[in-house]
Amino acid sequence: MAHSPTIMNIGEKVRDDFPALSRTIHGKPLIYLDSAATALKPKPVIEATRAYYAENSANVHRGVHTLSQLATDAFESTREKVRAFVNAREEAEIIFTKGCTEAINLVAQSYARTFLKAGDEIVITTMEHHSNIVPWQILCEQIGTVLRVAPINDDGEVILEEYEQLLSEKTKIVALVHISNSIGTINPAKQMIAMAKKHGAICLVDGAQGGPHLQINVQDIDADFYTLSCHKIYGPTGTGILYGKRTLLEKMPPYQSGGSMIRTVSFEKTTYAEIPAKFEPGTPNIAGFIGLGAAIDYVQSIGKEAIASYEHELLAYGTQLLSDIPGLTIRGQAREKAGILAFTLEGVHPHDLGTVLDAEGIAIRAGHHCTMPLMKRMGVPATARASLGMYTMKSDLDALQRAVRKAKEILG
Ligand code: ALA
Repeated sequence: MAHSPTIMNIGEKVRDDFPALSRTIHGKPLIYLDSAATALKPKPVIEATRAYYAENSANVHRGVHTLSQLATDAFESTREKVRAFVNAREEAEIIFTKGCTEAINLVAQSYARTFLKAGDEIVITTMEHHSNIVPWQILCEQIGTVLRVAPINDDGEVILEEYEQLLSEKTKIVALVHISNSIGTINPAKQMIAMAKKHGAICLVDGAQGGPHLQINVQDIDADFYTLSCHKIYGPTGTGILYGKRTLLEKMPPYQSGGSMIRTVSFEKTTYAEIPAKFEPGTPNIAGFIGLGAAIDYVQSIGKEAIASYEHELLAYGTQLLSDIPGLTIRGQAREKAGILAFTLEGVHPHDLGTVLDAEGIAIRAGHHCTMPLMKRMGVPATARASLGMYTMKSDLDALQRAVRKAKEILG
């Protein structure tokens, strides 16, 4: 396969910034193909986190002392970076959460539990992560709403005609994944949201994998809510984002309560702070969000579009390499797809494959990837999944192919 200049460049350019890539596993250089589970962290993120703990360690929003001001400034500067990252209208629409999962639960329990009623419908797709299924199921048990599921075709694409048929005046929420963590499908979020809005539905996009792989523009796609998993965007673990439109966030009740989210408290009545504070009780993950600011700066310095096109070329290369292996089936062949390569190998359980690859220093994920209904639809209990990041190299995929061939010889 011919290599364009981009495929030669980004991985090589950034690799030295990721210290984990210089370690060995079982005596072999680490080949990290599990970025969809969590991305490795570049030096500026590690340094920003260290500097907070070593030099600027103080609580935020509370102290008049200098250290607290410094910590607050560093922490709050991330909110503007995230606003720009997703193109929200204003910083107040950016809620810091502990993860994408918490962000979805927040919408289910605050917005939906308040404003939906028995018989109202929530539409999701077959390829949702459990974190965009279970919160809605719990809501259905609580208030009697009904979950409807848009089917997918054999390539792993939502069947839009059938999705459209599910939509009606009863549809109050559409919650869809932007990029499938299991099969890499990029859903046509803008189109699906426009279809839902004809019926007046509120739309949530689970951007756990959209964050690292796509240029996000919440205004352009007209998402009402958009959620991010920031450790997949090269940031620290324990950091997530809920973007929500001001008009919705303002009328939603608090999800959790305690310090920081109040305006006044008395034993008779408590009034709440303005957004975003209303949804951020307790001491937040200060180091994490300072690190996230560094992660966003780092990603922007490479360029979202450049990363996406680099990963796209890698995906095509890796798909070709794996397709050449007899008995290997790529799971998920959507026309629009991001850097996730799921596959099964005839006669070999994905967990065994994962173990053999690990012995070669290659990290992949094997299992149901928190998408059991999708596995059922594809007729497999589990898959092996190689997922790409900006530091992935063509040579990593060559090594993957060699190791899968070897595993086939040993296990097949
Ligand atoms: N949801 C993450 C994954 O796909 C953890 O691996």
